[in-house]
Amino acid sequence: MSELDPNVHPDAKRETEILAAESEMYAPSAETVSNAVVPDYLALRQTALEDIEAFWDARATELVDWYEPYDRVLDDSAKPFYKWFTGGKINIIHNALDRHVKTWRKNKLALIWEGEDGEQRTFSYYRLWQEVNRFANVLKSMGVKKGDTVTIYMGRVPELSIAMLATAKVGAVHSVVYGGFSEAALASRIEDAQSKVLITCDGAWLRGKTINLKDIADEAVKRSPVVQSVIVYQRTKQDVRMEQGRDYWWHELMSLPIASPKCESEVMDAEDPLFILYTSGTTGRPKGILHTCGGYQVYIAATLQYVFDLKDEDRWWCAADQGWITGHSYIVYSPLILGSTSFMYEGSPDFPYPNRWWSLVEKYGITILYTAPTAIRGLMRYGEAWANRHDLSSLRLLGSVGEPINPEAWRWYHRVIGKENCPIMDTWWQTETGGFMITPTPVVPLKPGSATLPFTGIDADVVREDGTSCDPNEDGYLVVKQPWPGMARTVWGDPDRYVEQYWAEFSKQGWYFTGDSARKDKDGYFWIIGRMDDVIKVSGYRLGTAEVESALVSHADVAEAACIGVPDELRGNVIHAFCILNTGVTGNDGLAATLKQHVRTEVGPIAVPSQINFVDSLPKTRSGKIMRRLLKAQVLGQPIGDTSTLAD
Ligand code: WTA
Repeated sequence: MSELDPNVHPDAKRETEILAAESEMYAPSAETVSNAVVPDYLALRQTALEDIEAFWDARATELVDWYEPYDRVLDDSAKPFYKWFTGGKINIIHNALDRHVKTWRKNKLALIWEGEDGEQRTFSYYRLWQEVNRFANVLKSMGVKKGDTVTIYMGRVPELSIAMLATAKVGAVHSVVYGGFSEAALASRIEDAQSKVLITCDGAWLRGKTINLKDIADEAVKRSPVVQSVIVYQRTKQDVRMEQGRDYWWHELMSLPIASPKCESEVMDAEDPLFILYTSGTTGRPKGILHTCGGYQVYIAATLQYVFDLKDEDRWWCAADQGWITGHSYIVYSPLILGSTSFMYEGSPDFPYPNRWWSLVEKYGITILYTAPTAIRGLMRYGEAWANRHDLSSLRLLGSVGEPINPEAWRWYHRVIGKENCPIMDTWWQTETGGFMITPTPVVPLKPGSATLPFTGIDADVVREDGTSCDPNEDGYLVVKQPWPGMARTVWGDPDRYVEQYWAEFSKQGWYFTGDSARKDKDGYFWIIGRMDDVIKVSGYRLGTAEVESALVSHADVAEAACIGVPDELRGNVIHAFCILNTGVTGNDGLAATLKQHVRTEVGPIAVPSQINFVDSLPKTRSGKIMRRLLKAQVLGQPIGDTSTLAD
């Protein structure tokens, strides 16, 4: 048995839930079907797989403009390094902004933002376009050019989107680091991307308090001195130290004559890099997933249009953070490509009271809300009275992402928030896939807790170790058998790692392995079970055991460490750590608290283990690899399976 075993359930409860919800169907209303942007979706799904190139060619023609047409849709001559739309010239900002300001959309709202403190800001397409142009000129004046990398570390403010859009406009490559990461995590990402420019904020608001992002950024820059300039957006107006000759205020730069509101978008090749986004994997340091200019934008525009059925009158709220792939694809880029109006909220869903989100839905007339199961469970805990105080009748569609949604949370979301009128789009996808992969659209009948069917043109399956398809309700490896335009192109600076991580498990067949286990039921519906590797989803955030473990062993008292994810009612999973201490050190509550604090500064608050156990030894294979699977089985009281590779 390999270390990846689909039969070791990350969560035994999921098994019971799936069996109970499998035959519960929610058919779309006739009205939903007849009003859908793509009403014949199910029929289209049947034919798209016969010729994926024709399907994506049509989307690339219909949804985006090209400066120069591509000569090939798919180039598979260097598998698994697929190329899409080769020869095509494009810039995502042309499609997201430049083209809209020449139409009636110039006056349409692109973005509505509310701060945690109640401040409101709105951007028409015209204003957003001008702000992006101005900041693009600022970046140019700082020497940023095509192909350079720019690291962005900010709170949830419109300027984070503006910074990303401006970077793309000048043809540079952004690497956004989520504002919840610590200095060490930020430093290693800056180092890996070799960014000379860092964009940050003085601080960020969270639950009525400010987090001093600039201080963290300063520490990170100390650790990775490659940074030459730091641009600081003023959000909280707290005191920060500005280093002369290195640090510049955003508002001061934007008031200089160089910040002109006219800026041409750089002409990019379809396969030029667009951004790097670091994400956790099985081993070692986080990997920089690379997405490129052409295929990515076609893919995210098509998936958003089909799945969330966006129309001009909609107000779309993707309640994620721009710093994660969900934010990149479905807050920053695709809503703009489709010319939609987005809403964004800065703070915590229950601040100052648990009705904050529902009051925002009512106040702004949100029509589509897309969030994570952990947020739904968190708000569900407060009871339905908080939601019932508000008129939520503007909503017509709901969405979920990030981890399996348990049927109980699904039903609550459907009944209390959607008033049984709003289909729920449970979208399964990954940083690496760029956009939605297994997902319903409004016309697909739903089952609570199932992401339903692969998207049109996506050839996903659940297979056994030998590649044969699993029987209905048999757990197996979730794979994708044909390429798609939004797929990651490589790991930044480490192509071997890309091959090894995603293409090695099923190299004979040439399939992409997702790292997830899943099953299909008798109707062909997909039920995601969870990660099979050493990735842990905590509140929907993706963390690697390796990151937390290396933070633990970097403490002077710890000799070895192993971490596992343990199912948790609210957060999906929490982290349990097992530490072997150096000789002479005794484990006690005080040390556990110190180690938690240490993980907080090394990785960030989301990575802090909920429990630290001090142990004398860890189960290992004869080649010295820690068998986390055994630790997990033990904690969960599951059978420990095959132990023939265990050393001791
Ligand atoms: C998990 C987030 C079940 C899955 C967009 C995947 C999900 C990992 C779902 C990727 C879903 C995401 N149902 N599981 N709807 N969506 N996942 O890269 O384990 O942060 O492999 O991308 O999240 O996490 P990532």
